[in-house]
Amino acid sequence: MQPQRATQTRVVQNQHELTLMEIRLEAKGVVSLAFRHPEGSRLPEWQPGAHLEVVLPSGRVRHYSLCGDPSDRHVYRVAVLRVDGGRGGSAEVHDDLKVGRIYTLRGPRNHFALMPAAAYLFIAGGIGITPILPMIEAMRGAENWRALYCGRSRSGMAFLDRLARRPEVTVLSDDSDGRPDFAAEISNAPRGTAVYCCGPEGMLDLVSEACSARPDITLCTERFAASTTPSSAGAPNAAGTEVHLARSGITVTVGAGESVLQAIRRAKPDVAWSCEAGFCGTCETAIIEGDVEHLDQLHSEAERVANRTMMICVSRPLSSRLVLDL
Ligand code: FES
Repeated sequence: MQPQRATQTRVVQNQHELTLMEIRLEAKGVVSLAFRHPEGSRLPEWQPGAHLEVVLPSGRVRHYSLCGDPSDRHVYRVAVLRVDGGRGGSAEVHDDLKVGRIYTLRGPRNHFALMPAAAYLFIAGGIGITPILPMIEAMRGAENWRALYCGRSRSGMAFLDRLARRPEVTVLSDDSDGRPDFAAEISNAPRGTAVYCCGPEGMLDLVSEACSARPDITLCTERFAASTTPSSAGAPNAAGTEVHLARSGITVTVGAGESVLQAIRRAKPDVAWSCEAGFCGTCETAIIEGDVEHLDQLHSEAERVANRTMMICVSRPLSSRLVLDL
């Protein structure tokens, strides 16, 4: 079974200049950041599963799931795990962001929204708890759900306090409980369950494999990193394609070995991007004219056929000319 995306809430990118009000240590290596409008204005609403794009001082853009309370319209809270040896975004958050300063954020956007289902099974691995936590809190009073929160050790698992006294939530750490048995969990799930899973790739692969034996189950995943499936592996070559940016009045030609995004960045360095691997949605751009082979991990089959937008970091033009709303 192919992992599926939940019904989407596509919100046009809203850009906000927000004050960082608090940096709080949530677990070993994990901090949460709370942002407010400088004048205390209400912020756009969001639903569990939504994320924000944070523009870091270096210009890097990173997307982080909202993990606070959706009913609090004055605070956006995200949490960030420091990844040593990563691409530098998390280290910059931990080392360089300062309380009281104003930062640019975009969104919220939601590629991982809750959809109606007969029952829910939430599976979070490590910092993957961030989109899952508001989902769990939205289940207050419901009985048709359970959750697994897995990590290497409890000291590195954020928000355990917010999950305490929730009998539906099972917390498993590798160092004291051993590895979780996802296959058993999924095989015991009630008919029609929606499985929401966010965590490292190995976990997603195990969960996806277990769900493939249950055609009645819908799997919705949120990835930290690109899948290693061939369809998303790196930038496809569309050499020679002419890409016209209608709003900017710029035309670029995609060079050998370049993605559409890389070609556009030569002429328009401020174009938004982040993962460059087709899974974050930052570079999603409306198509005005041209056929595209969609190689991202976000579009559903129906969206690929509709061909209204493309992830310019990985998707490849099939026509010799492409016109984009950029
Ligand atoms: S930059 Fe993340 S999907 Fe294109």
